[in-house]
Amino acid sequence: MGHIISVHSYRGGTGKSNITANLAWLLAQRGRRVAVLDTDLQSPGVHLILGLEKDRITETLTDFLFGKCEMEDVAYDMSATAGVTTPGGALYLLPSSMKVESITRILAEGYDVGRLESHLQKLMKGLRLDVLFIDTHPGLNRETMLTTTLSDCLVLLIRPDSQDFHGTAVVLEVAKRLGVPRIAMVANKVASRIDPASVVDKVKQAFGYEVLGVLPLHEDVATLGSRGLFAAKHPGHAVSLELSSIAEKLDPGPLSAPPGS
Ligand SMILES: Nc1ncnc2c1ncn2[C@@H]1O[C@H](COP(=O)(O)OP(=O)(O)OP(=O)(O)O)[C@@H](O)[C@H]1O
Ligand SMILES: [Mg+2]
Repeated sequence: MGHIISVHSYRGGTGKSNITANLAWLLAQRGRRVAVLDTDLQSPGVHLILGLEKDRITETLTDFLFGKCEMEDVAYDMSATAGVTTPGGALYLLPSSMKVESITRILAEGYDVGRLESHLQKLMKGLRLDVLFIDTHPGLNRETMLTTTLSDCLVLLIRPDSQDFHGTAVVLEVAKRLGVPRIAMVANKVASRIDPASVVDKVKQAFGYEVLGVLPLHEDVATLGSRGLFAAKHPGHAVSLELSSIAEKLDPGPLSAPPGS
């Protein structure tokens, strides 16, 4: 069965959506069949990075959670748009709704993680996914933490900021108690004058989990402003190379069975 990776952070704006989209694309470029599930139902954004045009979106994850459609109806094949060129590689996106009334309803009612859980395996089997990434809403909210329990791996992002460090410890403790099999960390938005090796040491010392990589706070990433996949637009850039190294560490290998088996 495919591998589920949740990308989360205690605070907002740490780079979850950009890093998730880039890692998903990089794994697709490694020949994997990958999907991104946007569970940030309150403030969705990953569709912009992956280039899903608004008028192409008919059904959303929010519709599925409200029982209005099947999960399979929500999967948009982004392989061509995102420029997946490796044979065998594929990239899907399950976006959430940008409609005000849907977001208001989610804010008021929350959603049923059980419905998500019961349909995820079917979706993964149907699309023959090797990897499913879950982009999340920041913080310690009930739905996100429950969704994390469906994951084989939690990638927790952190910035070198004392506010991040404090809350991250709480998220990690909850994830550990919920029994997430693998917990790994990525530092993002690290100022250029800070030595990346010292960040790895500091994060390891503070939390005791593996550190997959350290990404700099980079003008070029900010300039792109979520209008596309950084690693696709800037291959060979230091940020893309570090993302690539993180993708390699997360690659579970080709798990999917060949078609018709
Ligand atoms: N390494 C970086 N250097 C510079 N800017 C970055 C970097 N990583 C992300 N950003 C910028 O930070 C902003 C927030 O990124 P993103 O939306 O991916 O974060 P997020 O954690 O998903 O936010 P939210 O919590 O709101 O969902 C974006 O404008 C993005 O371009
Ligand atoms: Mg986001």
